[in-house]
Amino acid sequence: EVLHFARLAHVGGVAERAKGKGRRARVGAGRDSRWRGHRSGEGGGEGESESEGEGDSSPAWRCEEGAIVVDCTAGMGGHSAAIARDLCCQIEDMKQRGKNCATPRLFMFDSDISNLQYAVSNVKKVCEGHSVEVEGVHSNFRHVGERVGGHPVEGEGKVSYILADIGFCSTQVDDVERGFSYRMSDAVLDMRYNQSEGIPAWQFIRNVGSRQLENVFTSLGELPSGVSKRLALTLSSHKPHTVNEMRAAVAEALTKGKNRSPSFHAEQMPQIFQALRIAVNDELGSLITLMESIPSLLRSGGIAAIISFHSLEDRLVKRKFRELSKDGAFTLLTSKPVCPSDEEKAENARARSAKLRAVMKV
Ligand SMILES: C[S@@+](CC[C@H](N)C(=O)[O-])C[C@H]1O[C@@H](n2cnc3c(N)ncnc32)[C@H](O)[C@@H]1O
Repeated sequence: EVLHFARLAHVGGVAERAKGKGRRARVGAGRDSRWRGHRSGEGGGEGESESEGEGDSSPAWRCEEGAIVVDCTAGMGGHSAAIARDLCCQIEDMKQRGKNCATPRLFMFDSDISNLQYAVSNVKKVCEGHSVEVEGVHSNFRHVGERVGGHPVEGEGKVSYILADIGFCSTQVDDVERGFSYRMSDAVLDMRYNQSEGIPAWQFIRNVGSRQLENVFTSLGELPSGVSKRLALTLSSHKPHTVNEMRAAVAEALTKGKNRSPSFHAEQMPQIFQALRIAVNDELGSLITLMESIPSLLRSGGIAAIISFHSLEDRLVKRKFRELSKDGAFTLLTSKPVCPSDEEKAENARARSAKLRAVMKV
């Protein structure tokens, strides 16, 4: 699910050009070789380095400016580790050049405590021996404004980079006990990223009326309204508690329709589970709240980058970033979304629909 780090750095490179600053003057020749090595270590590979060109690999987080980076979705820590490695390289380079820098800080958010603990411990290992402060925050990223913005040291208007790689991690889907996967299982239909907050999917189905459920499948699952209605009514009456019970209810509701092939319900299953997951975790609401806090959190020259996987999320990001850049307070860094290369898609099929959009505060 990780868009290669080179893509994020690419956004940094675009930002550099937008600011009209020369890369070499800012980064220093010493760091260049390590930066390229680091990128190929992340899987960018020689081919990709060449195709993106020299000027594209400037990171947007700079130690000399007292970098504060917020990774809203730590996941397995892939992006955070790559950022941390780069911060360590910058510190070393500055030391060699006899310069001091304020200790960079990396905030890592995740709703999922096990992912967060795993990611933070790995990133702390990356930073061993370097003065980079890593802080794990077990929280929905909708609270990033209060948790980082209200911080006595970091405060508002100081963040260099906000990154959100939204949605689920493969580890969460692969663990059938979490109830995210539509594969056959007797696991409880939970689907929450944070199992100590909110209500599980089985309870959500019981609590909301069939009209609201119908709306979930029409708007978030983009299913035809007739199908959504039948599905909502069947779920409301059957009240599934496990993944298998949910699958059975979906099959029953969807095979009732006219001219439905026997495989129709199987084809719709991923969309139906996805719609329910988005609703249970209020994923669109969290994204909207996160984006509202971007203007006050970022420093001038700071960047917000969001990677989305669902067209509804991407539409929200596209609209918000356009709106932010309309009055000149932000520069839109991606007039078109940055998508995974063919190489990335071949390596990681789950990343194929990822779209990265970014804005920079002027
Ligand atoms: C696609 S993964 C992130 C992968 C990560 N970039 C990496 O390099 O490993 C998404 C992560 O975001 C978390 N997540 C999803 N929605 C969230 C939210 N609203 N607040 C905080 N974390 C969230 C999930 O628990 C999951 O661990």
